[in-house]
Amino acid sequence: MEKKRFYITTPIYYPSAKLHIGHAYCTTLTDIFACYKRLRGFECYFLTGADEHGMKIEKNAAAAGKTPQQFVDEIVEGFHSLWKLLEISNDDFIRTTQERHVKVVQDVFTKMYNKGDIYLGKYKGWYCTPCESFWTDTQVGAEHICPDCGRPVQVAEEEAYFFKTSKYVDDLLKFYEDNSKFLTPESRKNEMINTFIKPGLDDLCISRTSFSWGIPIRENPKHVIYVWLDALTNYISALGYGSDNPELFNKYWSDEECEIIHILGADITRFHAIYWPMFLESLGLRKPDRELVHGLLMMKDSKMSKSKGNVIDPYPLVERYGVDAVRYYLAREITFGQDGSFSPEQFVERINADLANSFGNLLNRTVSMINKYFQCVIPTYQGQITAFDKDLEATVNASIKNYEYLLDDLKITEAITSAMDIVYRANKYIDETMPWALAKDPDKQNELASVMNHLANAIYTASMLLKPVLVKASDKAFAQLGIDGDLLNYENIYHFGAIGGQTVNKGEPLFPRLDANIEVPFIQDLMK
Ligand code: MSP
Repeated sequence: MEKKRFYITTPIYYPSAKLHIGHAYCTTLTDIFACYKRLRGFECYFLTGADEHGMKIEKNAAAAGKTPQQFVDEIVEGFHSLWKLLEISNDDFIRTTQERHVKVVQDVFTKMYNKGDIYLGKYKGWYCTPCESFWTDTQVGAEHICPDCGRPVQVAEEEAYFFKTSKYVDDLLKFYEDNSKFLTPESRKNEMINTFIKPGLDDLCISRTSFSWGIPIRENPKHVIYVWLDALTNYISALGYGSDNPELFNKYWSDEECEIIHILGADITRFHAIYWPMFLESLGLRKPDRELVHGLLMMKDSKMSKSKGNVIDPYPLVERYGVDAVRYYLAREITFGQDGSFSPEQFVERINADLANSFGNLLNRTVSMINKYFQCVIPTYQGQITAFDKDLEATVNASIKNYEYLLDDLKITEAITSAMDIVYRANKYIDETMPWALAKDPDKQNELASVMNHLANAIYTASMLLKPVLVKASDKAFAQLGIDGDLLNYENIYHFGAIGGQTVNKGEPLFPRLDANIEVPFIQDLMK
C-alpha cells in the first residue's frame, strides 16, 4: 500500500569546505523525488542541512583565523546559494549548531544513558600530540603518520562514552529481514551484514574530550558528543522531536501513514543502516522505511578528491550551462545506485542529444508548424485518425504508467528514460506523418490537424513527466504551448487529447546546443 505522506532527506553536509558536484548530485536527486511526490499530489517534507561540529571544522576555522561559528556561517551561506541556484525545494534546512538541534541531542544522550545503553569507557587510537588529535588506522596508514602535520603518531587512550551496539544487533537483523526494501540497492545490505555485523560490531564511541567544537554532554561537560550521534539526530530534531512543538514530528515521523526516506551516499551507509536504526530502537522510535544509497561520482577513472584537485565546482557549472542541463545530466547519465563519473564530453553529448536535438527541437518544430498551418491555434482532439496516431497515443500512455511505476520505486534514471520515450516517439511520428506533405494536400487537412494535436499532447505529457527534473524548461514548454490553469495539474495527462484550442507562443529554443569544448570548472580554492 502506498503511503500518503513523505518525509525525504539528504545527508547533512560538512561545511569544512565548499560543496562539490557530488553533494549537488545527492541533493538534486532527492529534490527530484520530492518534486515528483508533490506533483502527484502527496504531502512531502524535504529536509537538508549542515553538519557543523567536529575536529576538522575546528581546525579549518583556526587555520582561517576564524571562530568555528564564523567559519561555518560563511560556508553555509554558500550551501544556500548553491541550493537556490539548483532550484532545490527543501522545506527546511537544519544546522547542527542551532539550539533546536543541540537541545534534542543532549536529551537523546540523557535518555539513552538513563536506559543503560551508554557507558563510560576508554577510547584507544592514534594520537598526534602537536595536533592534539586522534586518528584512525586508515588515516595514519602503514607508516603511522599524522595526516595533518606528517609527524609520527602514538597509540593513546582517552576517556569516552560508548553506545552498546551489542544490545541491538538482533533487533537490527530482524528489522532487515522484515523490511526487505529498507536498504537498497540490495548489495548494500549484504555488505552491512558480511563486512560489519557478522565479524562482530564494536560498541560505538560517541564522545570526545580532545576537542571542544561539539555539543557538550550535560552530565559531563568536558565531553562533546562525537559526530554521528549528533549528526543522525538531525532527522528528528528538525521535526521538533521532544520539543514543545512536535506537530511536524507527529505528522512526518510517528505517523505510520508517512513514508520516511533517507537518501545518502555509499560512504556513509554504515552509519545510517546500522547505528541509526539502533539509536531509534533505543529511543523507542519508529525506523525509516527506506534508505537509498547512491553511488559516488568519479572524475574520469579516478575518485574525485580534493587533494587531487579534480573536484568539479557545481556553482559555475550551473551558472554557465543552466540548472536544467545539470539536473538532467546527473539524473539521467548516472544510473541511480551505481558509481558514475562526470565527464565533460558526456555532458555535452547528453545535453545536445536529449535536450537540444530531441526535446527542444520537438517543441520548436511543433510550435512552428502550428503557427504556420493553423494560425497559432492548436487544433482540437478528434480521436485516432491514423495508425500513427494510435501508436503515438499508446506510447504516451504506456510511458506514463512505466514512469510512475519506476519513480514510485525511486528508480529515477529509468523513469526519465521512460518519459524521453515519448519525445523520441513523437520525433519519429513527425518523420512518419510528414506534415509538410499533408499541408500541401487539401484532402488531408483533417489528418494534419490531428498530427498537430497529437504532437502538442505528447509534448505536454513529456513536459509534465520531466518537470521534477527540468524545473524551468517544462514551464517554458507549457508557456510556448499556451497551457495554463487546470491543465498544469498532473492528472490531466491521463486524458490524451486534453490539449487543444490553446494559442501557441513561439519562444527561444529551450536548450541551445553546447559547444563540444566546454570548460569544466574545478574548485580552485580548496581547503583541507
Ligand atoms: N556530515 C556527514 C553526513 C551526516 S548525515 C546524518 C557527511 N557529510 S559529507 O559532507 O561528507 O557528505 C557526504 C555525502 O555527500 C555522501 O554521502 C554523498 O551523498 C555526497 N557525496 C560526497 N562526495 C561524493 C561524491 N564524490 N559523489 C557522490 N556523492 C558524494 O558525510
